[in-house]
Amino acid sequence: MDLTDKVAIVTGAGQGIGRAVALRLAAAGATIVIVELNRQVGETVANEIEELGRKALVIEANVSKLDQVQRMAQQTLETFDQIDILVNNAGIAGRTATLPDLDESDWDAVMDVNLKGVFFCCKAVINPMIERRYGKIISVASIAGKEGTPTLIPYSASKAGVICLTKALAKEVTEYRINVNCVSPAVIETPILEQVAPATIAYMVSKIPLGRVGKLEEVAAVVHFLASDDASFVTGQCYDVSGGRATY
Ligand SMILES: NC(=O)c1ccc[n+]([C@@H]2O[C@H](COP(=O)([O-])OP(=O)(O)OC[C@H]3O[C@@H](n4cnc5c(N)ncnc54)[C@H](O)[C@@H]3O)[C@@H](O)[C@H]2O)c1
Repeated sequence: MDLTDKVAIVTGAGQGIGRAVALRLAAAGATIVIVELNRQVGETVANEIEELGRKALVIEANVSKLDQVQRMAQQTLETFDQIDILVNNAGIAGRTATLPDLDESDWDAVMDVNLKGVFFCCKAVINPMIERRYGKIISVASIAGKEGTPTLIPYSASKAGVICLTKALAKEVTEYRINVNCVSPAVIETPILEQVAPATIAYMVSKIPLGRVGKLEEVAAVVHFLASDDASFVTGQCYDVSGGRATY
């Protein structure tokens, strides 16, 4: 699963799953473009990557803003000439609430980042990938997008959208050696959990047959496989990293 000479964009790579993915891909040889709302955490991860002897570029951008995403792709191409891998990781949980308490702004805030952000980032890299007849796109969905998590309706719906965007896009680009896949983690130990009510976390863990939260490295390992040429015959798939949580 060597990634020497590959350029990988990882959104939301400043902490949590994105950071773990960025470090894992860098350890395998990739140059990493860290796309972050928060430049400071991005710079910290860039330093960690440089300590591994790899190149890193931090681009401050909001994945839900089309002009910022287009600039991100342009800056990557200007700096490194190519985009081999896109990991759509940036995401937010949104407010924990049942349907009667949700309003339009709750829905829009989550959809803008989790689903529209993935759409924008895929759009920004797809033509350069088609031109080079090469690409790996991996999105971080969620088990919530398969099973539906009560009190996280916009989040669950956004992640179901990511799974289906993955399947549809994969079929559009089969002739260009572009593989499009996603992963659906169950609860993983990261700062995003600070946004989620303890009762909701307890509910989610209770549904995991392995009986524990997942580790960042366990998600990063599956993303690494999907980003590598070892996964060349894998496309349009959603890989669970869920301790057996999914029922399908
Ligand atoms: N942690 C879990 O239990 C879990 C489970 C399933 C899926 N996921 C998904 O994994 C992904 C990463 O989650 P995490 O737990 O590492 O989250 P996190 O909150 O720890 O980190 C998310 C990072 O993304 C950045 N970010 C947020 N919005 C952004 C935006 N609009 N543009 C650019 N960057 C942005 C943040 O600054 C942050 O550094 C998310 O898509 C999340 O939905 C997480």
